[in-house]
Amino acid sequence: MEERIPCFEEGLLVNFFLCVEPDGLSGSGRSVPEWNSSPFGEDHGRIESSFAHGASNHCRRHKKLENRKKAMKRIAVLGSTGSIGRSSLDVIGSLPDEFRVSCLSAQKSVSLLHEQIERFHPSCVVVADRRAAAELRSRLASSSHHGTTMVLDGESALTEVVQRDDIDQVIVALVGFLGLQPTIAALRAGKTVALANKETLVVGGELITRLLRETGGTLLPIDSEHSAILQCFAGESRESIANLILTASGGPFLRTPTHLLSRVTSEQALQHPNWSMGRKITIDSATLMNKGLEVIEAHYLFGFPAERIQVVIHPQSIVHSMVEFIDGSIKAQLGLPDMKIPIQYALTYPARTHSRFRRLDFTTLPPMTFERPDLEKFRCLALAYEALRAGGTMPAVLNAANEVAVELFLDGAIRFTDIPAIIESALAAHDSVPADGLETLIAVDRETRQAVREEYTVHH
Ligand SMILES: NC(=O)c1ccc[n+]([C@@H]2O[C@H](COP(=O)([O-])OP(=O)(O)OC[C@H]3O[C@@H](n4cnc5c(N)ncnc54)[C@H](OP(=O)(O)O)[C@@H]3O)[C@@H](O)[C@H]2O)c1
Repeated sequence: MEERIPCFEEGLLVNFFLCVEPDGLSGSGRSVPEWNSSPFGEDHGRIESSFAHGASNHCRRHKKLENRKKAMKRIAVLGSTGSIGRSSLDVIGSLPDEFRVSCLSAQKSVSLLHEQIERFHPSCVVVADRRAAAELRSRLASSSHHGTTMVLDGESALTEVVQRDDIDQVIVALVGFLGLQPTIAALRAGKTVALANKETLVVGGELITRLLRETGGTLLPIDSEHSAILQCFAGESRESIANLILTASGGPFLRTPTHLLSRVTSEQALQHPNWSMGRKITIDSATLMNKGLEVIEAHYLFGFPAERIQVVIHPQSIVHSMVEFIDGSIKAQLGLPDMKIPIQYALTYPARTHSRFRRLDFTTLPPMTFERPDLEKFRCLALAYEALRAGGTMPAVLNAANEVAVELFLDGAIRFTDIPAIIESALAAHDSVPADGLETLIAVDRETRQAVREEYTVHH
């Protein structure tokens, strides 16, 4: 019989296939079909209709409710106060019969985290900043949840917390390299990971791919482009696929003449035309590095080489990505630019559940257009392809140099056009080695950041 996707020999989809096996290898003792039972299904109907039938029915109903509560998928949201974290909690809050929040985390947004604790009652939270953690503890001490939510502090607590028994699935909505270690720890602990943090796969793609093969773990993409591709794969065979086509909005400077790019400000770069996102990814979208990181992410997720992962500029952000087949047919996934849709898909995968999010109305859409990216003007995209082709630790260098360059640009310390220049010189200075160990990746990340900062200090 023809092999069906998801069931790739290479790439993480091997693991998507495993996650639909009964008694799947999630390590939590729960299989995906258990989660897939509809919140509005038969069971719910019986509970409601048994309500008026006396005490024994009431007991049965209570037991069923208890069982349902146990069968709920228990979620940790790392980076819950960020753009993806908040959207994730909107999705979870809209499906209270299916999901329960076990853990939340932030760097220092204490007020918002406190509100989230009051609403979702997690068993524990992690606050990276120790002073912010102390403030949260004192707020909780004088609120109704005193004693019910444990507060851990420090960045390293993230890797410990994801291993907790009361977590089934971890949403990694942290920004940058920071996502790598908690993702690895969660997969090692047998948790399903829904990954928004693309930098994790850019840096640790080789390592994570191997880890998934060894453990039979499950990793699902939240990035809208990769979610779109996963949805286009449904019912298809790997052999039938010719190319993956990632769409890109082109960012705020798509029509800005190249010679003016050196003068754009961080305020201008933070004005994304279609998406409301965190600051780092918004700058990445303006340089098109975001698309470069996504090309590398797609490579590790789906196991296709760089030359079969194409990018097309689509300023309206309605087509979220496409898959081209060997017969010339193309499947696309469309929707409004709203991250709640791919987040929900990663939580309910492979099933779909009703949502109340805004719908696409074709009759009111502006004309949809597509064009080739300008790799001279948006050098970051070309550099990402180069790093992917070079392989090994080169994508980790690309990522580290980009993270530092974006910080410097946001601080007003460098020009927009310095970002690709900094990354290019970091790549040129690096001799790639196999990216097969966490220690190697941590060392390369640290050395690249240090070298970029030192060079910047010397020359500026
Ligand atoms: N936003 C989108 O629409 C979108 C779409 C696709 C993919 N992604 C990817 O998803 C990831 C998250 O993006 P985002 O836009 O949601 O970012 P964001 O809004 O900047 O949120 C980042 C989250 O991480 C926390 N955080 C930051 N630094 C930390 C540290 N040192 N230690 C612990 N926690 C820390 C923040 O806490 P505080 O609030 O306390 O600072 C916040 O909760 C990125 O990798 C991005 O590329 C985002």
